[in-house]
Amino acid sequence: MALLFLFLTLFFIFLCYKLYQKLTCNLPPGPRPWPIVGNLYDIKPVRFRCFAEWAQIYGPVISVWFGSKLNVIVCNSELAKEVLKENDQQLADRDRSRSATRLSRGGKDLIWANYGPHYVKVRKVSTLELLSAKKLEALRPIREDEVTAMVESIFRDCTSPDKKGKSMQVRDYLAAVSFNNITRLVLGKRFTSPEGVVDEQGLEFKAILANGVKLGGSLTLAEHIPWLRWFKWMFPFEEEAYEKHNARRDRLTKIIMEEHIQARQKAGGASKHHFVDALLSLQDQYELSDDTVIGLLWDMIIAGMDTTTISVEWTLAELVKNPRVQLKAQEELDRVIGVNRVMTESDFPSLPYLQCVVKESLRLHPPTPLMLPHRANTAVKIGRYDVPKGSIVHVNVWAVARDPAVWKNPLEFRPERFMEEDVDAKGHDFRLLPFGAGRRVCPGAQLGINLVTSMLGHLLHQFFLVSGERSEGGRY
Ligand code: HEM
Repeated sequence: MALLFLFLTLFFIFLCYKLYQKLTCNLPPGPRPWPIVGNLYDIKPVRFRCFAEWAQIYGPVISVWFGSKLNVIVCNSELAKEVLKENDQQLADRDRSRSATRLSRGGKDLIWANYGPHYVKVRKVSTLELLSAKKLEALRPIREDEVTAMVESIFRDCTSPDKKGKSMQVRDYLAAVSFNNITRLVLGKRFTSPEGVVDEQGLEFKAILANGVKLGGSLTLAEHIPWLRWFKWMFPFEEEAYEKHNARRDRLTKIIMEEHIQARQKAGGASKHHFVDALLSLQDQYELSDDTVIGLLWDMIIAGMDTTTISVEWTLAELVKNPRVQLKAQEELDRVIGVNRVMTESDFPSLPYLQCVVKESLRLHPPTPLMLPHRANTAVKIGRYDVPKGSIVHVNVWAVARDPAVWKNPLEFRPERFMEEDVDAKGHDFRLLPFGAGRRVCPGAQLGINLVTSMLGHLLHQFFLVSGERSEGGRY
């Protein structure tokens, strides 16, 4: 009885404390949350657009409740700076869903690791040993080889008698080149034959990727309202599915790692520059567990593949809509490269307009418009509002880059704006943040820019792009 009394008293004190906290805390404004579900059912499907609309009503920093979890979203460059520079370290943890926790084995990788000694170590390995300028240069032949192969396969397909004059889905070719590029850079493997047939290991790799996306996206209401997890029969969590998935992913990765170990032994210890080789040779020096090596490899694959495909696809869509810009970029390519050779990455410095096209596209269409979720490891102030410890913080980089207060005619696709003013896109200018900024800025930013610029430059140098609708009429 005394124990029950003590428990009830403590519970009552806890409730009073929470209520006191709530009443004295000056949270950012936002749509009124419903009991239990918060704003979950108010959020429209394209989240970053919905948050930008709410920012028009409530101001540039808003509170949105995902069930009982407070999400703070900032939508202008000044506040982005407060999140990613002034409070960088306090907001450098990650918010992990239960799926992300299982898939990353509790943050043993880089993407889902909280800020701390493990994070600092794997981040150092990634930036110094995998993605440094020197390493990227060493891997350049792979990228150029793959982009050239993409152009050849498009040319083959669009000139084949049965497809001549018909429109084609460029997305399929972009996805294929990103796939080949990333698997070669990360795993040192090309799973696709020159005829475009994916081998057995490649099919397994693709199946694992697809299953990971499915598991990663399977959020239930209980994700946001933790006490619902008690009702296991209503909100089951498929622990077994994650274990099976991780085991399958580890099995394939270890086979590939073993192939590399054997190849290295045969070659007398000489190491190639692929990420897998680099990580295997550094494993002891940096004390990296197998889980961390596997986690890092898959992080690079997941973070590097779709982002580049999406960026090129958006750029092509803008160029079809803006033939003036397309023509100007093509004139630059013809002037600098001519018609007797193909573009290489060493041509980039002589192609300023092409680089501005890429920047303008990343401004209007950042492939990760809300970046990845950061979490407050202590209470901070953003603007004049309180952000309690544990809150999830997002920067709406899509909205920041369309803010009319800092961009002239923000909705216009006009690469010339970057010729007039050189704006950094890799985290130093808070008006343009496609790669984030601060401690958690994308470590693959330069690789991403190189891949996108190379794919785009090759396509524009070899083809004139029009939309399917226009080409069906046979005029082009
Ligand atoms: C156009 C291409 C790309 C874009 C726009 C992009 C964008 C981003 C963004 C916005 C973040 C989150 C930053 C944050 O949470 O503050 C991120 C993180 C990350 N990106 Fe990229 N990325 C691209 C390509 C790549 C490539 C090619 C790789 C590597 C192969 C890569 C690896 C990573 C990793 C490992 C992280 C997690 C970093 C961390 O948590 O510390 N990304 N990226």
